[in-house]
Amino acid sequence: MTLFLRKFCEGDLGKIIEIEKASFPDPWSRNGFLYHYRTNPQGFIVAEDGGEVVGYAVARIEATFELRNLSIYRRCHLANLAVEPKKRKMGMGTKLLEEILRYARRKGAKEVYLEVRTKNASARRFYEKKGFIEKGFKKRYYSDDDAVIMALTI
Ligand SMILES: CC(C)(COP(=O)(O)OP(=O)(O)OC[C@H]1O[C@@H](n2cnc3c(N)ncnc32)[C@H](O)[C@@H]1OP(=O)(O)O)[C@@H](O)C(=O)NCCC(=O)NCCS
Repeated sequence: MTLFLRKFCEGDLGKIIEIEKASFPDPWSRNGFLYHYRTNPQGFIVAEDGGEVVGYAVARIEATFELRNLSIYRRCHLANLAVEPKKRKMGMGTKLLEEILRYARRKGAKEVYLEVRTKNASARRFYEKKGFIEKGFKKRYYSDDDAVIMALTI
């Protein structure tokens, strides 16, 4: 395995759509990925193995103004993370997540959060192992399931 992490470029889209369709019941469209790329290119990371795209992570920083202490609170929303099915359990998801944590810290975020299908036991387990805790629940967040909100303080 010669894993290499880099920023997304538009030529990656074909392979990303393929992985996305194999990973989720309601895959993002090309426009969904392009929207994230065009509005926040730094938060779109691609994993390459032997010159092939094998995974990706999409995140963005959200800032809210806290009246309580007149400060800005930044958190990072991990909007998408997937690894090609035949390349899973080899540490690539971990590497992508670690890169997102570095990005979030660089941008001053205090936590990283995400939504995951209640039925997606392996992803919930993956995030739990990384120290994420369940912080909430969104009813009918997906067309086919509810979402658990998981978060990690960084
Ligand atoms: C969730 C996901 C991104 C994890 O990616 P991954 O590359 O398989 O993750 P890792 O290999 O880093 O870790 C996953 C597991 O493999 C294990 N592992 C890591 N390196 C390993 C190695 N060299 N050999 C064997 N197992 C290994 C990890 O300990 C972990 O163990 P677990 O199965 O008991 O939880 C991947 O399963 C995926 O794409 N799922 C579909 C999309 C999805 O659900 N995304 C999350 C939506 S919120």
